[in-house]
Amino acid sequence: SSLKAHFNKQFLVGSAINAQQAKKTNKDTHAIIIAQFNTITPENEMKWERIHPKPDKYEFSLSDEYVNYGLTNNMFTIGHTLVWHSQTPDWVFEDAQGKPISRLALLARMKDHIHTIVSRYKGKIKGWDVVNEALNEDGSLRDSKWRQIIGDDFIEKAFTYAHEADPNAELYYNDYNLYKPDKSAGAARLIKSLQDKGIPVHAVGLQGHYSLTHPDLSELDEALTLFSTLGIQSMITELDVSVLPFPSEAEQGADISQDLDLQKALNPFPNGLPQKQQDALSARYRALFSLFLKQQNHLSRVTFWGVNDANSWRNNWPMLDRTDYPLLFDRTNRAKAAYDAVIALP
Ligand code: XIL
Repeated sequence: SSLKAHFNKQFLVGSAINAQQAKKTNKDTHAIIIAQFNTITPENEMKWERIHPKPDKYEFSLSDEYVNYGLTNNMFTIGHTLVWHSQTPDWVFEDAQGKPISRLALLARMKDHIHTIVSRYKGKIKGWDVVNEALNEDGSLRDSKWRQIIGDDFIEKAFTYAHEADPNAELYYNDYNLYKPDKSAGAARLIKSLQDKGIPVHAVGLQGHYSLTHPDLSELDEALTLFSTLGIQSMITELDVSVLPFPSEAEQGADISQDLDLQKALNPFPNGLPQKQQDALSARYRALFSLFLKQQNHLSRVTFWGVNDANSWRNNWPMLDRTDYPLLFDRTNRAKAAYDAVIALP
């Protein structure tokens, strides 16, 4: 069996991949991707800094490879992400003298970026994370450069441009912590305001960078129900479950390889995950997928953020240099007990 076969009737199951993993030379990982998943998301290759590093320079080689990989392997291929405050070069917001550009100039830049990329992959990329992480934790709009320069309507403009470039592509709003009541309420208000203006938005993406204790599953359940009342689907777009403690704010900037005490406290299992934590991870994944099955009518996709523990970004977030175990495949690409727990669900 496989994840994609097991949940075939309920939702797509996918993984973020990066240029490295998509190589056929990386045989084990490639084999897992094609055996287990029916949808892929590019981990970094389509972010602004990669695909459009300089004003007049688009860099399409890795994103072309990604899209071809998706086509060749019959994947529902996702684009990630068009408008974000992060991994976006400073020049986007500045003139040649380093001064902030005008609203109209930034809108023109955004339009060129979105039209260029979305039309290049028209019909090939089936769904786009159009806007990523535009909300604060209290549900208000984040004070990003996009918002400072353009205003609140930068979001609807981004969706409109994407729709112009590929009217058949699904368009998503994507964010983290969308299980939190204030933030999910803010996302619902945002999506409703787009719908009221006739701007197409087809689904909301809940990133899903979780832990053994967060989120509270009843809150996640309520958020999924709330989004369903808007008449749109939800998707879990970046699932991983850290088994490590979440550092305090003071510790978050630290590099634990420099501090042995901190390393012990925040990286307690560098030589492998003890049975107890393995069981806890399996139980957690099982509970999450039980909830996804319960919400299956409103959930169209579940995508993991990486294929195996070795290539997960959780080894470097929220702390550098950790050894984390957040995915269903271990560092040698073997299916973990958590995989069996998920596959065993009816
Ligand atoms: C992460 C990648 O996994 C890392 O390799 C990169 O260094 C930083 O970005 N939210 C998102 C993703 O929408 O794009 C982020 O991916 C993780 C958080």
